[in-house]
Amino acid sequence: MAPAVLVQNPTIAPVTDTIKDKLNLKSYPADLQAALDDAKAQFTKRNPNSLRLHEEAVNNLPGGNTRTLLYTTPFPLSMKSGKGHQVTDEDDHTYTDFVGELTAGLYGHSNPNILSSLTNTISTIGLNLGATTAAESRFASLMRSRFNLGRVRFCNSGTEANLHALAGARKYTGKRKVVVFSGGYHGAVLSFGSGQPAENNVDLDDWVLGRYNDVAGAKELIEGLEGQLAAVLVEGMQGAGGCIIGTKEFLAQCQESAHKIGALFMLDEVMTSRLAPGGLQSLLSLTPDLTTFGKYLGGGLAFGAFGGSTEVMSVYDPRQPGSLAHSGTFNNNTLAMHAGYAGLHDVYKPEVCEEFSKNGDAFREKLNKACEGTNCCFSGKGTIMAVHFSADGEMKESDVTCVEVIKEDWELKDLFWLEMMEEGYWISRRGTIAMILGTPQEELDRFVAAVESFLERHRNLVRS
Ligand SMILES: Cc1ncc(COP(=O)(O)O)c(C=O)c1O
Repeated sequence: MAPAVLVQNPTIAPVTDTIKDKLNLKSYPADLQAALDDAKAQFTKRNPNSLRLHEEAVNNLPGGNTRTLLYTTPFPLSMKSGKGHQVTDEDDHTYTDFVGELTAGLYGHSNPNILSSLTNTISTIGLNLGATTAAESRFASLMRSRFNLGRVRFCNSGTEANLHALAGARKYTGKRKVVVFSGGYHGAVLSFGSGQPAENNVDLDDWVLGRYNDVAGAKELIEGLEGQLAAVLVEGMQGAGGCIIGTKEFLAQCQESAHKIGALFMLDEVMTSRLAPGGLQSLLSLTPDLTTFGKYLGGGLAFGAFGGSTEVMSVYDPRQPGSLAHSGTFNNNTLAMHAGYAGLHDVYKPEVCEEFSKNGDAFREKLNKACEGTNCCFSGKGTIMAVHFSADGEMKESDVTCVEVIKEDWELKDLFWLEMMEEGYWISRRGTIAMILGTPQEELDRFVAAVESFLERHRNLVRS
């Protein structure tokens, strides 16, 4: 069997002291706007095919876009292919992929276990069988034992997982309101990034927003909703919110207060289940009534799942009169059921998960060391992290506690994003890094050096 952690096609570019040559500059502009203008001009010059494709795409998709996060100015970079831990754009630049499909890409672009599971499924099983299969029960059993669940149901995205889990919580409790936290993101129509429910959220009358990591505030808010509250829905680490770690005290308080008033405690582990063999909840000794999953657990295919105690999940048991219907053409699609199982069973074994998370923590520590004394820091846990540039002067990882206290300097973040592409790193523009299994250590070290030189060449912009 192939080793679980693979180093595939490591094309290590030499560490550059400066990217001045690449940017074709005599010196770095001291002014942020001028530096950004230079970096954008260089981006436009080196990516003519992406520009052309974007100009075509605006005729077919609103703004040329079908996934808002990927819309960037001056135009989005168009990727052509991926291999191992790398992606290659339409102008043939190859990058170390730190977007890692926002945590769904954990296995990389060509993991042999995943590839053989997919090709085997296509050639010997078939795409969709329109019936229950042994594969879905086998995968559910693995997820139950890994994440301490009574019962599981599959769906097609993390958004769906949260929608169905919330419907289950409402059915179980007979209540409607749900406490969520500003900065939280639970899906395309369950978004609270700005401290308000997004305009296109579902159930706009039912959300009650609290402040993340505010222990006393959460207690008062949740317990004050006795008789109305179906659930508290929270991420153990706010991923889209900027990799903000929830404290043990805060999350335990959410669980305790929910239970005190008969509401359910729902943990969104769509991103965080990869942080420990039993998910982030196992590190924090949390016992959610319902947990939602997605991303990498589909082996790289569209995937979602929700699970919890047998009693709560029985609201979805079709043998029970009056149970909730949960249909979905692709809920048990053969590709995700097989690739997801192969990934969790054969690749992301508990020991691989632990080692990978340790590497991620060590990487983040090195990055934060490089950032000392600047307004830049990296927050997060294990192999999921985010870069921050504070508009308020020096910032450390421990300052990243809730969206209300982070005043991001988005222009500096843009400059970082553009210049890291010049260095050969593909990072999400909002600054999230989700590592891919098998990324060579040399590429991590080279990134630390690239961050150091970014902070050095722009010292007038990053030091207060
Ligand atoms: C914590 C969390 N929950 C839910 C979702 C929604 O998942 P999906 O994009 O698969 O719908 C995401 C996606 O980023 C997420 O980060």
